Amino acid sequence: MDTDIAHVLLVGGTGRFGGKLASALLSRPGIHLHVLVRPGTRGEALRRLEAHGVTLVSGALDDMRSLDSALEGVDAVVSAVRGPPDVFVEGQLRLLDSARRHGVLRFIPSDYALDSADPEAGRSFMAAQRHVADAVVRSGVPYTFVSCGAFMETALSPQAQVFDFERGRVSYWGTGDEPFDVTAMRDAARWVAEVVVDPRAVGRRLEFVGDVVTVNEVAALYEELTGQPLQRVRRGSVEALRGQLARPRPAGTPVDTSSAALSLLSQLAGKGRLRAPSNSDYPRHQPMSVRAFLQSRLIPRAPSLGALSVESFP
Ligand SMILES: NC(=O)c1ccc[n+]([C@@H]2O[C@H](COP(=O)([O-])OP(=O)(O)OC[C@H]3O[C@@H](n4cnc5c(N)ncnc54)[C@H](OP(=O)(O)O)[C@@H]3O)[C@@H](O)[C@H]2O)c1
Repeated sequence: MDTDIAHVLLVGGTGRFGGKLASALLSRPGIHLHVLVRPGTRGEALRRLEAHGVTLVSGALDDMRSLDSALEGVDAVVSAVRGPPDVFVEGQLRLLDSARRHGVLRFIPSDYALDSADPEAGRSFMAAQRHVADAVVRSGVPYTFVSCGAFMETALSPQAQVFDFERGRVSYWGTGDEPFDVTAMRDAARWVAEVVVDPRAVGRRLEFVGDVVTVNEVAALYEELTGQPLQRVRRGSVEALRGQLARPRPAGTPVDTSSAALSLLSQLAGKGRLRAPSNSDYPRHQPMSVRAFLQSRLIPRAPSLGALSVESFP
């Protein structure tokens, strides 16, 4: 552990993944957590942060002055923002600029999917991540990038356009036996909380994988756990999926649109699989399997519905 890193600023801590990051960072001894909160943001996520005695700093990515004051006394920055390019790209570049001027010891940009530097991975949808990553490398600020495949919470939800348990349907391309990397948000957050203070992680892209499964395996698991059959719908060949992903996204499409879906579909199309997970470098942490994830989300329901709670994929 890098003992020089004590004060960590989390940006995006009121978001879905950011909330998990806040919990993971709070549970690490020696870390004092600061969270940038936009003026006007309210809600349960903020209440949880307040209840944990986090240092809340009012500010936003389009307000450089607020970023400069949020960066005072901060040793590391972790970003989990999501939004259109003026937030995801320009906003994070402002954050990076402030981090550089404040001499932070570690910068982890919002990423957490596939390797945006991999020409095979998400060529058509990770340009924004790549743009930020290139700027981070050029800035000279010590950095770590984190990839973790698709989040289970989104990959196994209807949002990713593959599993629709509520409707009893699963769609696939190819044979359904194509493997993909998935990670529970909680596990990805715990790994980020480890690497942010790990000097070995400086200047690297680290990959972490919670589980490797296929569409057919997940469908069979669901059927085993619920006793409910799923209808399989073949959408086409892997080549057809590749063609679909290669189509340019309409101009102005927000950076955040379906990044989870795209990272899952990209893997199903044979692109972007994580090659060298660093799980074993952090042996204290054993990630959740897809089986455990599905089990944890099964709720008792009327037999006719016996399904996963869509609400449980927030
Ligand atoms: N691998 C995967 O399958 C997968 C799936 C989902 C997400 N992700 C990645 O995880 C990261 C976080 O995504 P998420 O779904 O957790 O995002 P999210 O729930 O939409 O949260 C976005 C966060 O960004 C903050 N934010 C937005 N605009 C801001 C601004 N101008 N200034 C300061 N903060 C601002 C929001 O604050 P407010 O609360 O004020 O709005 C919120 O805290 C992204 O990099 C995303 O691509 C990966």
